Amino acid sequence: MNYSEAVRGRMEAARGREDIVLLAIESSCDETSAAVTCGRSVRSMVIASQVETHALYGGVVPEIASRAHVEAICGVVGEALEKAGVRPEELDGVAVTYGPGLVGALLCGVSYAKGLALRHGLPLIPVHHIEGHISASYIAHPDLEPPFLALVVSGGHSHLVLVKDYGAHEILGRTRDDAAGEAFDKAARVLGLPYPGGPAIDRLAVEGNDRALPLPKARQEGYNYSFSGLKTALLQGVARMEKQGVRLKDEDIAASFRRAVVEQLVDKAALALRETGVGKLALAGGVACNSLLRQRAQEVCLECGARVFLPPPVLCTDNAAMIGCAGYYRYRKGCAADMNLNAVPSMPLPKA
Ligand code: KG4
Ligand code: ZN
Repeated sequence: MNYSEAVRGRMEAARGREDIVLLAIESSCDETSAAVTCGRSVRSMVIASQVETHALYGGVVPEIASRAHVEAICGVVGEALEKAGVRPEELDGVAVTYGPGLVGALLCGVSYAKGLALRHGLPLIPVHHIEGHISASYIAHPDLEPPFLALVVSGGHSHLVLVKDYGAHEILGRTRDDAAGEAFDKAARVLGLPYPGGPAIDRLAVEGNDRALPLPKARQEGYNYSFSGLKTALLQGVARMEKQGVRLKDEDIAASFRRAVVEQLVDKAALALRETGVGKLALAGGVACNSLLRQRAQEVCLECGARVFLPPPVLCTDNAAMIGCAGYYRYRKGCAADMNLNAVPSMPLPKA
């Protein structure tokens, strides 16, 4: 039996089942992660983070990331399978992030997934990284069903998405320049804080006065965002206040910056909740770990009479469980790739 016949047989046998067991692999940026998922629940997950390595350079170095993925992937996949007590031949398929992301990093996961799928005759399920982030809420909230709004905020993306159905998205708004996480990382660099800057600013901001440094509100049309001007405004604002003899504490700068980013994010989410009438908002992506964003999203949803879905931080940052969950819904639609699957560094979120 050749590979495509084996895949057809597996998918036929799995038709209609809700307990589809997938090995999922995520390697789009600086975490090598593998998980074993069953439907939308997680049996095991392993994450090998490269954060400490990249912190030495103040940001992700693509070549170093690729090499670190190559070194980590066998151990990470082996450990995920062992923790779940599953042998490769018992899987229903292999789900893998194939984009967007760093091409060398993505290639490592895609190549490994292809090898495993071919070796064991398993369907290969390609997953869009952002669809994965959105799916983290399905894991954390078993009763969540589309339609809902997803605020996807990470190091590379800031999108307000209407999730119409599983795997069917309409982007209502997006950043016109920097992503929210990128803005946090840049502001942190200004303050001399280590990479990744988002968590560092969040921690510092807790002790600060968020009104100490006035920052302008970006006025973007519709549901769009803009964060690139905030870093410049921060630098200019600090210089202006120093001229006036006011020396701001780092805590105050961090708190003021965090508030400016978060208010922009929640204002547009609240507008979308009111205008679409969709009574559910899910947060997704690394910036969804931000403590103020989580608090403000809860408050805004309460005001709008909407439900809020906040996955735990480990499911907000890059992880393979979310890829397995997105892969489950793709599998049920019969979306398997063949051995020509390639890494795609940039691609739009699937509409259907
Ligand atoms: O989703 P993610 O792990 O990777 C990408 O797909 O980009 O997101 C990483 C981003 C980084 O920019 C990091 O600074 C930001 O998420 N981040 C945060 C927090 N935790 C992580 N930003 C603000 N506050 C946080 N607590
Ligand atoms: Zn991500």
